[in-house]
Amino acid sequence: MEEIDMLDLSPRAGDLDAIETSSVDELRALQLERLRWSVRHAYENVAHYRAAFDAAGAHPDDVHQLSDLARLPFTTKEDLRRNYPFGMFAVPREDVVRVHASSGTTGRPTVVGYTKDDLETWADVVARSIRAAGGRRGMVLHNAYGYGLFTGGLGAHAGAERLGCTVVPVSGGMTERQVQLIRDFEPDIIMVTPSYMLNVIDEMERQGIDPATTSLKIGIFGAEPWTNEMRREMEQRLDIHAVDIYGLSEVIGPGVASECVETKDGLHIWEDHFYPEVVDPITGEVLPDGSEGELVFTSLTKQAMPVIRYRTRDLTRLLPGTARTMRRMEKITGRSDDMIILRGVNLFPTQVEELILGLPELSPHFQCVLDREGHLDALTVRVERREATPLDQAARAGAGLRKLVKNRIGVSVEVDVVDPYTIERSVGKMRRLVDQRPRR
Ligand code: DLL
Repeated sequence: MEEIDMLDLSPRAGDLDAIETSSVDELRALQLERLRWSVRHAYENVAHYRAAFDAAGAHPDDVHQLSDLARLPFTTKEDLRRNYPFGMFAVPREDVVRVHASSGTTGRPTVVGYTKDDLETWADVVARSIRAAGGRRGMVLHNAYGYGLFTGGLGAHAGAERLGCTVVPVSGGMTERQVQLIRDFEPDIIMVTPSYMLNVIDEMERQGIDPATTSLKIGIFGAEPWTNEMRREMEQRLDIHAVDIYGLSEVIGPGVASECVETKDGLHIWEDHFYPEVVDPITGEVLPDGSEGELVFTSLTKQAMPVIRYRTRDLTRLLPGTARTMRRMEKITGRSDDMIILRGVNLFPTQVEELILGLPELSPHFQCVLDREGHLDALTVRVERREATPLDQAARAGAGLRKLVKNRIGVSVEVDVVDPYTIERSVGKMRRLVDQRPRR
């Protein structure tokens, strides 16, 4: 890592937006002013919010301080689905200059909309995120997030242009070509899901290229959970700084929160635009900072589609700011939908990832396959051995992983160590959890 000078990547005086280093009091005052606007805007212009507030006996006039937000009802993905496609918009449809949609594995997709000003805000927060990662004007940025209805590609693209990078808009897929473009255009930065990055690394190795010798200095990875162990794996194999970027379409897209390269200690939430709360996933009660729970966001500046207390289902903790004034969120443990409950024990694929990456014989390509044996759920961790690992060592590592899961997480699982390239590869978000249980 010596080769990449951290001093060059850390922000210099004058680089940052003033609010990134303002006092906490200034930030809170700005948030309150914006929150009052946003809540009123939603109530006055979106039938859903008016009805939901009225039903809860809540009114925008009730918001006198930030904690009053807790009086307002939550918004869920179901609310967005019910108002499909444009029912959550707070401005005339003609003022919406862009829509995106989440693919949604089941049911209708959810649609989100942006005014011209919203696109400006979005480009600003993504530019801020890339800068936090160490990106600067003039750097070449390879963007392998998918372009289209998914917010990753176009969101990263606009932010990178806003910062003044030279953007290579590759999108996901065609892995051989990704490698060729990285060799030929010599990008400084890559933006891509961590699971697809692993595939690009494998392809480099297949072509006889040492991934550590490419021009890349910074990887900005997100759109799916990944662990600090995965960060180490990527930083070593690619000789880069790997930082985390978080976001969701309903709130804006990528750029809701991002890690700073100089600290790599969780993601600073761009709180001047997105107000976070962490709540108990079952009771909905607001939890004090530092407690783990479900992340909830209220947009403070969005025009086309304000969201009030949107339940993300993502689990994390809020922590005080370090490199910036804004609070941090810890790396996401997982979505509540991805939580496996096995004989009473809660388990997330990220916990399995952590353990796998501690075993040098096993590769980071894995899936958790959930099935039913008789009346009981059973979990098999299917993981590829590394190419250099002989079969007998791989089998021993598999037995070791089984023991680690039992000792650290407290539940018995099966481990199936398979040959390289036998687990489905992703070009975007990887499906870590495969649920093969028969429907009741
Ligand atoms: O995934 C936006 C995005 C694109 C973020 C590119 C970062 C980079 P959606 O498709 O709406 O939007 O999915 C949002 O993805 O609720 C999380 O469950 C998950 N997710 C996104 N970023 C992270 C991350 C985009 N850094 C959902 N860590 C969210 C863990 C993440 N999970």
